[in-house]
Amino acid sequence: MDASNLPKLEIKNAYLHNQKAYKPTASFVKKANVKQWNAFREKANKDPLAYWEKAAKDLFWYMPWQKVFDDSEKPFYKWFVDGKTNIVANCLDRHIGTEVENKTAIIWESDSGLKRKLTYKQLFYEVNKLANGLKQLRIGKGDRVAIYLQNIPEAAIAMLACAKIGAIHSVTYAGFAASALRKRIDDEGAKILITSDVGYRRDKELDMKHIVDEALQGNRTVQNVIVVQHGKKPVNMKKNRDVFYEALVQPQPKYCDTEMMDAEDPLFILFNSGTVERPKATVHVHGGYAVGVNQSFKLAFDIKDTDVFWSTADPGWITGHSYTIYAPLMAGITTIMYEGVPDFPRPDKIWRLINKYGVTILYTAPTFIRALMAQGDKWVKPELLKSLRLLGSVGEPINPEAWKWYYTKVGRKKCPIIDTWWQTETGSFMIAPQPTMPLKPGSATMAMPGIEAAVVDKKGRKMPVNKSGFLVIKKPWPSMMRTIWGEPQRFKELYFEPIPGYYFTGDLAVRDKDGYLWMQGRTDDVLKIAGHRIGTAEIEAAVTAHKSVAEAAVIGKPHKIKGESAKAFVVLKDGFSPDEKLEKDIKKTIRKQLGPIAVTDEIEFVKGLPKTRSGKVMRRLLKDHEAGKPLKNTTGLTERH
Ligand code: WT7
Repeated sequence: MDASNLPKLEIKNAYLHNQKAYKPTASFVKKANVKQWNAFREKANKDPLAYWEKAAKDLFWYMPWQKVFDDSEKPFYKWFVDGKTNIVANCLDRHIGTEVENKTAIIWESDSGLKRKLTYKQLFYEVNKLANGLKQLRIGKGDRVAIYLQNIPEAAIAMLACAKIGAIHSVTYAGFAASALRKRIDDEGAKILITSDVGYRRDKELDMKHIVDEALQGNRTVQNVIVVQHGKKPVNMKKNRDVFYEALVQPQPKYCDTEMMDAEDPLFILFNSGTVERPKATVHVHGGYAVGVNQSFKLAFDIKDTDVFWSTADPGWITGHSYTIYAPLMAGITTIMYEGVPDFPRPDKIWRLINKYGVTILYTAPTFIRALMAQGDKWVKPELLKSLRLLGSVGEPINPEAWKWYYTKVGRKKCPIIDTWWQTETGSFMIAPQPTMPLKPGSATMAMPGIEAAVVDKKGRKMPVNKSGFLVIKKPWPSMMRTIWGEPQRFKELYFEPIPGYYFTGDLAVRDKDGYLWMQGRTDDVLKIAGHRIGTAEIEAAVTAHKSVAEAAVIGKPHKIKGESAKAFVVLKDGFSPDEKLEKDIKKTIRKQLGPIAVTDEIEFVKGLPKTRSGKVMRRLLKDHEAGKPLKNTTGLTERH
């Protein structure tokens, strides 16, 4: 992306000036791990390499690094050079033989009423057995394993088993349809796929195996499909390819060596949406990723041994990787996995679960907070919330109104709200409060210790206070993505060329007079629908898959609960005319192509789309048009059906 093409920045920050700061309670500060957050941050920022080296020493290494940081091949930075570790050695192995081994690692519940608890020792055995099973299927170091599972313990077990033997996992969100899954599997050249027969959500059964079979049509790389039997009905298994998880794992030995990995060996690939149709395959590594995730978790969430942590994120997203699974396990605490939506069958389901399991930290998304808020306060009973001591938010800016509701109703004015800004690419939190600092509703506050964030103009010059600019990270950090799988050039272009010298986040932000940062959303054509990042191009490709559609352009519109929703402008082929039935049918096609998350709320039929001379669709004009501004010099749009 060329920064000179980016929009002019003119954002009015009405709410910025009136937010009073919320101080932490004295009792929280008394128990906090870091009380002098300012001094702590200053020390870290004075010598970030020393800070990260100290953070790395909190983890287990088979062999220490020779050098903390290497920038000889910019921007392909290396961290903990020649250090040997494995994230699983930190998540599991090192807890075995200590008192942590009998602690609950994972509590799982589904909205269909099923429950399961795994201690660290049990999880260790389960992971070892699957790791041995994978080896039996000739999977080893560097092989790619696709995972298509809902939020069930096997998702965590599968990720850890891959990591244990040095295979690279790639999880696809189970809400994605066959074509999206196919694209991902083809891109990464997966050798094996782990899925389940069905998944559950709001009492609905999702036929995942069927989607997998469709996705694998014509595929040449996947040799085996491992199927977790989650439902009760018979499963259609393909001979010589499909194997049941239980049948594979049951006879395996309980021990399996953990592969000694180089700090820079890939741990996983995770696809996310960019401005182009094909999603980007973000690559994270064993060493630096573990260090960044572990450190950020302990610091921002003030982690204690006794914490019961619930991140509502699905394993298909980076939050599900970093903070539902890897961080809590590295810290040796209990993590909750919930299969379903936590406001089903009743809006108080989430609060009942918190009470039942004594959840101390809840980490969720603004879209969900807004949805709960809309259900009314009567569901949020204070007696169910006693165990909570800290609340987190992630995925999109949290509006001050939702922040205050979360703070007063859920947090009962006792829990700090930790609004964490980060990305799939950053691996771990970049901007987030330290829990003992004063908080401003709607601001993610400041960069984490050791992270240098800035708001700049397109030339990289610092923007004045209260003026909007591009958010950049000025220095590399350990958990940053290492490349885009198979596309190193694109990695360079997207993240390091727009504003030379800095990591380009693609977000806009404002810094206020106290140095607090206020996030303002993306600069590029990427939407955030209910906290899920999805490229307009990806939705457009799905719209144009319908036989009647000649061309389509998608824009984001503000949405009360989802944050943003997608609207498609559609040009029909000759011989088709718009009506309600066709609109429904196009929406069905989109759902089929991408899964339910990206379904456009609105379709408008137009005769043409506004374009640049080079033929690029000008989505910005469509946005203006949507906002009621007149359009000049554009073709087609003025003539509406
Ligand atoms: C984009 C990254 C990082 C985990 C989940 C999303 C937006 C994320 C916040 C926040 C304002 C946020 C940004 C960012 N975003 N967290 N706390 N405040 N905006 O990961 O799908 O890679 O999306 O989400 O626009 O660039 P992702």
